[in-house]
Amino acid sequence: MKGSRRDWLKYGALAAPLAAVGCIPRRPEARLLPSLAPLPAPFETPLRRLPVARPIGTEGATDAYDFIVRTTDARILPGLMTPIWGYDGIFPGPTIEARRGRPVSLRLRNQLPVPIVNHLHGGRTPPEHDGYPTDLILPAGGFAGHDHYPQARISAGEREYIYSNDQPGATLWYHDHRMDFTAASVWRGLAGFYILRDANEEQMPLPRGDREIALMICDRSFEANGSFRYPLHDPLLREPPATTDSYMGGVLGDVILVNGTPWPRLEVNAVRYRFRILNASNARRYELTLDPIPRGGYSFVQIGSDGGMLPAPAPQRTIRIAPAERFDVIVDFSQFQAGSSVRLINTAASGSVGQIMRFDVTKNSRDDSTIPSRLGDIPNPAAERPVTTREFDFSFSRLSREWLINGKPFDPARMDARPKLNSVEIWRIQSDFSHPVHLHLVQFQVLEHGGRPGPFDSGWKDTIDLAPGEGASILIRFDGYRGRYVFHCHNLEHEDMRMMANFEVI
Ligand code: C2O
Ligand code: CU
Ligand code: CU
Repeated sequence: MKGSRRDWLKYGALAAPLAAVGCIPRRPEARLLPSLAPLPAPFETPLRRLPVARPIGTEGATDAYDFIVRTTDARILPGLMTPIWGYDGIFPGPTIEARRGRPVSLRLRNQLPVPIVNHLHGGRTPPEHDGYPTDLILPAGGFAGHDHYPQARISAGEREYIYSNDQPGATLWYHDHRMDFTAASVWRGLAGFYILRDANEEQMPLPRGDREIALMICDRSFEANGSFRYPLHDPLLREPPATTDSYMGGVLGDVILVNGTPWPRLEVNAVRYRFRILNASNARRYELTLDPIPRGGYSFVQIGSDGGMLPAPAPQRTIRIAPAERFDVIVDFSQFQAGSSVRLINTAASGSVGQIMRFDVTKNSRDDSTIPSRLGDIPNPAAERPVTTREFDFSFSRLSREWLINGKPFDPARMDARPKLNSVEIWRIQSDFSHPVHLHLVQFQVLEHGGRPGPFDSGWKDTIDLAPGEGASILIRFDGYRGRYVFHCHNLEHEDMRMMANFEVI
């Protein structure tokens, strides 16, 4: 079935230009999938504080967690139930709070009807624990679909992942990474925060406790009965492709969820807050700002990016956040009157998806926090000695209707780069279209992003968003572990449709 469909598409694509010049199939854009359920009015439901997972035990210096991955019904829209796939039955998954130098062990028990794979995004993780897309945890009850790949490490029912936490404090996240099906699985709920703390950050006088809040922003669509709507090709998610051909450019929802709640509101005091913002959407980018923008002209003071603290605070009027990116920002609500409201909006879109959430400033309060003028330690890239430059081109193939890297679709059996352990390389990446490019294992430095330094690139990054036709050069040190990892586009539909490649640290 899969073969015949693909062949048909290939011949269709070949024949089209001959049959109808001027009707050449175009690059598939991300498309809006409208909800069929009535959408709630914004700013009615309070923001949820995400529950922090409690370790089931501590063995030596390791914190052990044990999650059952299962289906449950969630209340997301008023009066309707949404069946979700959740780590420990919740979406977003439980927040894991980790400390630098203290490893975490995470046991997952798969009670879903499909295989799962877990990846700690942004983590420097040994290869066998990184969640290589074919390292499946099969369902406890067996599985009647595609589940075997060459060199895969398959587990039955459950397995343990070890995360070393040997890297600077950062806002990381964990999510599903199943070969060919990541987009559909994450859409159903398989994503959670992983906050890695370290001593450097803890001694800073930043807002903390109730005034430090993680915000997972993602878009979704809903069926009339309240279930998540997604353009599935195989409704049982057993045989690839998961997504219908017409949505291979990416699926956009019309409901914005923050921590799993549509357009929530949050009461804040007129003081500084720290927000760790994650874009967990499959394909949607946001341009976030406050409305109104405070008189000083900027909405946020950015203090961190994907891999931890920036070298110095960066005031930002707006922030552009692509899928999988994280922004650690301070908002100073003392710039607003007590009793007033401020919206977090998305100026990259209009209508329902142009709004994110609302802050209601309740009262003045004491604020002991400050933003230090020096934050993280970021080495000077000019002092590094890169040994190689590699080029990777991210593009769409009209012929095979796949997303490709250097002209090739993902193949777990092919090695695309073999950097040496502890070496530094420059990767020059180039894009035909919008692609948020992500590397596993490493945090890199951005040398140039569209020909100049990007406004959000002064710190550690693991995901870099390329605009159509844009290129970037990144500096990567391959340290930590030898072994096989992937890099890919983090538009999850592009990723599933083959925009992924391998590197092996040797
Ligand atoms: Cu967040 Cu390989 O991904
Ligand atoms: Cu990753
Ligand atoms: Cu892409």
